[in-house]
Amino acid sequence: MITKVRISLDRITQFVSKKDIAALAPLMERCNRTVHKGDGRGSDFLGWVTLPSSIGKKQIADIMECADTLRACSEVVVVIGIGGSYLGAKAVMEALTPTFAAFDSSEGQPLVLFAGHNISEDYMAELLAFIKERSFSLIVISKSGTTTEPAIAFRLLREELEKRYGRKEAASRIMAVTDSSRGALRTLCDKEGYKSYVIPDNVGGRFSVLTPVGLLPLAVAGIDIARLVKGAAAMEKATAVDVPFEDNPAMQYAAARYALYTKLGKKVELLVAFEPKLQYMAEWWKQLYGESEGKEGKGIMPHSAVFTTDLHSMGQYIQQGERIMFETVISVGKPAGRVVIKSDRANLDGLNFLAGKRLSEVNRMAELGTMLAHVDGGVPNITVEMDSISAETIGMLIYMFEKAVGISGYAIEVNPFDQPGVEEYKKNMFALLNKPGYEEEGEKLKKRIAGR
Ligand code: PA5
Repeated sequence: MITKVRISLDRITQFVSKKDIAALAPLMERCNRTVHKGDGRGSDFLGWVTLPSSIGKKQIADIMECADTLRACSEVVVVIGIGGSYLGAKAVMEALTPTFAAFDSSEGQPLVLFAGHNISEDYMAELLAFIKERSFSLIVISKSGTTTEPAIAFRLLREELEKRYGRKEAASRIMAVTDSSRGALRTLCDKEGYKSYVIPDNVGGRFSVLTPVGLLPLAVAGIDIARLVKGAAAMEKATAVDVPFEDNPAMQYAAARYALYTKLGKKVELLVAFEPKLQYMAEWWKQLYGESEGKEGKGIMPHSAVFTTDLHSMGQYIQQGERIMFETVISVGKPAGRVVIKSDRANLDGLNFLAGKRLSEVNRMAELGTMLAHVDGGVPNITVEMDSISAETIGMLIYMFEKAVGISGYAIEVNPFDQPGVEEYKKNMFALLNKPGYEEEGEKLKKRIAGR
């Protein structure tokens, strides 16, 4: 099956042979079957597997209608959420929105800003100051409905909204995405009458971008969510159990990284893009892979870079530092824009050798040159080839990475769908803030901090 997103393993074969990769087919097929059959660990959280093909036109239309309501009354829509309730929307928005649109007030689009993904007082103070003279609305997203960071942000922004518009109008400017019955956010929705969407029980936070968690903010931002879902559905088909290993991008990717990890001891994966628009796709991917695989003392550490920018900061380490990593390069075939470098009569900058070339050609040569240099330096290179950056290909990329992490997690024998370690810092934070029920732990921690 040919898709607009493909995996090329040509540049890892000098590290792991084609035969070694092919030998992993039975393991990858078994893990893919486990994902589909739901007979592995964490199988309560497999709702994402058939999500793209099950999203109907009606659901998309409903989300778009709600988004239009917010768009019509807001210069700014603040999306509140953290982790899986933030990164997917942020990533797709960055990938598909013109880079400078946020600075262009003639665009007629509401500006979509984020909150609740940090607890910085400066960030919040500056956000409150920014929206002071602008009409605004809120989308608050939390699967558990109890996460501290978005809950604090929602309290502060809701207060501002109610002060500005009164409680009744404020309620019409708030949309929530949360659990169907549990959590403080659900209680608030029911009590205040906020319009709300449900995050399905069987879809974990980091797999939720194709639910209203991602789709509602994206629709507000003017992203073609129907095409995004269509792309994901095409990849759902392309990575299904009946698609053989050689043609299945999720299994190919999972096999390559498994081989590099288990056979060569490569413990760090650097996701690289030569398009800055994909920077947040890498942030989303880091959560997906870090939370899914990093447990029980196992898992490849996900890291990322944007080239050529970071070649001028991280390039030295990648080329000659500890040989612990491999790269996965998202290689984009066609740019959307067109910029040609012209000839200059004086040629004082000495760049006439580039005259007549498009900037993308220079970027492409940088990409190829970098990959060859890194391979020569002992950094194997998996390539994810994308025809172009579009709603459809981003949808494909999302689903391919999701499917591959399910397979990868099962291959290294962890539960890819839980995140028990995320709770640890929360306990300490609550104890230090004197949250009722944490008093004893709080005393112990305060003594530790004071060095007693
Ligand atoms: O993937 C996950 O489950 C987490 O990263 C959550 O998305 C994150 O902690 C936010 O949780 P919630 O949506 O419950 O507020």
